[in-house]
Amino acid sequence: MAKYTRTIHSPYMQWAKSNFHARYNLANSGLMNYKLSQLPVNISDLELTGSHHYGYEPLLYEIGDKYKVKPENIFTTLGTSFANYMVLSILFEPDAEILIEDPTYELIISAAEYVGYKVKRFNRRFEDGFQIDISSIKKEISSKTKLIVLTNLHNPSSVYTNPDTLLQIGEIAKSVGAYVCVDEVYLDSAFNLMPQSSFHLDDNFIVTSSLTKVYGISGIRCGYVFAEPLLIKKMWHLNDLFYVKHVYAAEQLAVIAFKNLDKITAWSKDILNKNHLILDQFLQRREELETVAPGFGTTLFIRSKMIDGDSLSEILLKQYETAITPGRFFGMPQFFRIGLGCEPADFAEGLKRVEQAIIKMS
Ligand SMILES: Cc1ncc(COP(=O)(O)O)c(C=O)c1O
Repeated sequence: MAKYTRTIHSPYMQWAKSNFHARYNLANSGLMNYKLSQLPVNISDLELTGSHHYGYEPLLYEIGDKYKVKPENIFTTLGTSFANYMVLSILFEPDAEILIEDPTYELIISAAEYVGYKVKRFNRRFEDGFQIDISSIKKEISSKTKLIVLTNLHNPSSVYTNPDTLLQIGEIAKSVGAYVCVDEVYLDSAFNLMPQSSFHLDDNFIVTSSLTKVYGISGIRCGYVFAEPLLIKKMWHLNDLFYVKHVYAAEQLAVIAFKNLDKITAWSKDILNKNHLILDQFLQRREELETVAPGFGTTLFIRSKMIDGDSLSEILLKQYETAITPGRFFGMPQFFRIGLGCEPADFAEGLKRVEQAIIKMS
């Protein structure tokens, strides 16, 4: 029997789902759960079934209003990961290459391999402050490249990529007829930058995002893609192969969430501001730890010269009821990623435990 070699699992997701129960969860890259009780929802406002086959119009308008995107440029789906998968799928052709930032969110690589792409990488080196190395994109791009993929803010470092750099990447992609897909699931957490979606930069930009990370609303799986109408149509038609329509009640709840986004943003900002201060104090105390600290975002990627991320993670889980994400999942085992989205008191206690473990292991 022929050996089936396509990637059909995500090592990172399996690890994350097995370790979510830690009392101090600093492995989560998004905000803690925003509660349904914090939204003005009456059960009688919701209906179980409705007409929304190619997008629930009220939701398309809410998303479009926030990001200044027309409904025909929006595809809604089950979170950013599925949004990424749909983008990868509709652009795939046999022999296609994809250029993905290194390091990045592991699921993007696994999904690209699953779809069938030859995966090539471009650099974001720690020594360069995790900024994108344009020369390595130029080196790796070819006539077979269909897509360049990056995250902005960057997972794991939260580093911001500015529009000038994105435009340069867009030009390089254009020279071979490729698209640039920017996963912006963390972008709104750079509150003070008030960044615009890179979808507006040029017509070969595609953007994916969701309410999951910055707004702490993961359960209703409200994800979206911005792209030119032809690609959006392809996604709706590909979607027909998988499910008839999204969960109606979830789409109605997403509309309510968008109508209350100012309040949710204030809640998120408050938690992240507090936790950034706590994290700064921790980093000042532990001078041996190295990081690029952009001062915003929901995660920070930290290097320890003495301890590898896996050993630290293991001890924290076994002895300190604390979870962090090992750098191994980003191909950088000397690093670990801290998520800043939990309750500030829990965040402070979790970091204290990280510190105790580091001292014990040093
Ligand atoms: C860059 C990136 N994209 C997408 C996701 C998943 O987002 P969602 O929950 O909206 O599917 C994550 C989760 O960690 C992520 O880091």
